[in-house]
Amino acid sequence: MEYEGYVDIHSHIIPGVDDGSQSFEESMEMLNIAYDQGVRVMYATSHFGSGKEKYDKELLLERFEKLKEMALGVGDDGIELLLGNEVYYRPGTVELLDKKEIFTMGGSRYVLVEFAYGISYNELYRSLQKLINAGYVPILAHIERYYCLYRKFSEIASLREMGIGLQINTDSVMAKFSSEASFCRKLIRNGYIHFLASDCHRVGWRPPVMKDGYSVLEKKTPPEYLDRLMRVNPDILRKNQFL
Ligand SMILES: [Fe+2]
Repeated sequence: MEYEGYVDIHSHIIPGVDDGSQSFEESMEMLNIAYDQGVRVMYATSHFGSGKEKYDKELLLERFEKLKEMALGVGDDGIELLLGNEVYYRPGTVELLDKKEIFTMGGSRYVLVEFAYGISYNELYRSLQKLINAGYVPILAHIERYYCLYRKFSEIASLREMGIGLQINTDSVMAKFSSEASFCRKLIRNGYIHFLASDCHRVGWRPPVMKDGYSVLEKKTPPEYLDRLMRVNPDILRKNQFL
């Protein structure tokens, strides 16, 4: 498989709205790195509700539109930017989604969602179920960070059975001698995960790597699994179909 045409579904690329990029210059530098890493489509998923943002919907939209234009000029082919949010789940999240105060992934039924890392499995399950009951499909961001899911393969399988999307951060698979990284690689090798994404924040902090993650994984992962993570499932998301 060639290293291009990846879709990065999780990024903090919009400048000055959260703890991600702090300027248009930095966003462009990150987009150039992403392009060299094979990314051609990126979802801009600024924080919502995490306390890490200064949330102003109009400002976010204005900066997104400007960056979207600029991203088309990156590399030979440009990068297509789509809008979403990374929503920190709280009571009231569903209502805010219904009022369109929170952006779903490219306007689809999919919502990128995160929780407190110490959440219990039961509360996590119940909250995800609330989103599903309201007609949304949650994509659980960086599932490797939740203590209740760490090395809990059967719990992760149960979440998969709900029909939600499961996402791992690229940098989490890359450390050579880390038990977290080997747990993440095992999940991917065994087909548990739907999306690998950069969750890029800054040029010098979690940059937008995709090809590097692919290179680490390709030695032991069936190529069709990797293709699913980085192209096929993002395409299903794009078309608003079901995983
Ligand atoms: Fe994030």
